[in-house]
Amino acid sequence: MTTVSASSPTPPSTPREPGTPHPRPPLEQSRHLATAIPGPRSLALAARRATVVAAGVSSTLPVYVARAGGAVLEDVDGNRLVDLGSGIAVTSVGASAPEVVAAVSEQVADFTHTCFMVSPYEEYVALCEVLARLTPGTHAKRSVLVNSGAEAVENAVKIARRATGRDAVVVLDHAYHGRTNLTMAMTARAMPYKTGFGPFAGEVYRVPASYPLRDPDGMTGAQAAARAIDIAQRQVGADRIAAVVVEPILGEGGFVVPAPGFLPALAAWARENGIVFVADEVQTGFARTGAMFASEHEGVVPDLVALAKGIGGGLPLGAVTGRAELMDAVHAGGLGGTYGGNPVACAAALAATALYERDDLAGAARAIEDRALGRLRDIAADVPAIAEVRGRGAMLGIELVRPGTLEPDKDAAGAVARACLAAGVLVLTCGTWGNVVRLLPPLVIETSVLDDALDVLERALRGLA
Ligand SMILES: Cc1ncc(COP(=O)(O)O)c(C=O)c1O
Repeated sequence: MTTVSASSPTPPSTPREPGTPHPRPPLEQSRHLATAIPGPRSLALAARRATVVAAGVSSTLPVYVARAGGAVLEDVDGNRLVDLGSGIAVTSVGASAPEVVAAVSEQVADFTHTCFMVSPYEEYVALCEVLARLTPGTHAKRSVLVNSGAEAVENAVKIARRATGRDAVVVLDHAYHGRTNLTMAMTARAMPYKTGFGPFAGEVYRVPASYPLRDPDGMTGAQAAARAIDIAQRQVGADRIAAVVVEPILGEGGFVVPAPGFLPALAAWARENGIVFVADEVQTGFARTGAMFASEHEGVVPDLVALAKGIGGGLPLGAVTGRAELMDAVHAGGLGGTYGGNPVACAAALAATALYERDDLAGAARAIEDRALGRLRDIAADVPAIAEVRGRGAMLGIELVRPGTLEPDKDAAGAVARACLAAGVLVLTCGTWGNVVRLLPPLVIETSVLDDALDVLERALRGLA
């Protein structure tokens, strides 16, 4: 029986053989509403929260989670919600994947922390070996492990600056790179990420992205890249630019897939001008888009890749993986941090990355795309508020506008998300104007659960017509 108390003791368990799965019964993979959303226990927790949690921390869901498994979240009132958000693209291997739980449990029993900068351990090294193998390109690579996506992006910039001796960083319109001071500067959207939090880090320059729905009709990827490059060259100068940092699919900015050719053209320009091409694959990485990394869809081999989210199977971890000669340009002691590459997070990541490969989760993401994209496009044909359905793999977005225009309709996206939630399906929104409904299901979602969630989403979308 679930209780609201956060401190309810875990029942004593008998010792397990190493590697055996966590003993709790798996959470039933189905949607179930036991109360209204939110139920009474969630409401009680919301009241407690209001007295102690900072108002600046907001939550999409008004319910409080008691358990999670696979693609289902169970709340403190016994409601089971289908999770089409994966904790923002984190639990791609499923919430509490048994292999991750077992690896974490074993590691916790061995040791929880030493600080790799003080007393190193194998798990860090083993994970860097995996990252060297999985990330695009066959060149010699090195990695540094950190705690979050923002930290990964910051470190990629530090490395690029040290390796090139240059200062300037070029980023895209609609970009999201995090909430630390440097990554706030690199992030495009003011509200809620930047407003009132300046002054921001200097030497960050923004150029237009490729946004096919909103670009001039027929603009190719090469033309969109030329537009961006022209601004960077005129306003900064290629010889001053250390790095161009690009999300291969814009994430928080609206799940915008650039026109074909945009990324390769930017990467080629970077290469020709000694600029480090950094792919921020924090959201797109680890099988999410139907390839292990989204850069692969266009054959782009980044110099540095910033990683986080899906890498850790739910535990906090980030990484920068990149060309050995760039990574090793940094002096000893220049990279690191107390917790970076924490052994428990590394154990989780070793288990999660093994699952991406063993279970071909990139193939699972493509199967989700096959099942969902056509269906959503059929709905779009009937609902004029849907300007575009787009995405790759299990990273799909639905951009909502006022019918007959390209005027973003944030209220419509909010209404769809609320209707889904009331029926027990968690969907997130995103986009520069907040008008994109985004789907990021765990890649292990069962077909029947996905279909059921899409039924709910379809009703919500058709409700806009
Ligand atoms: C593309 C991208 N970069 C960086 C970040 C920041 O990651 P974190 O929240 O782990 O700092 C995010 C988070 O959503 C992201 O989507």
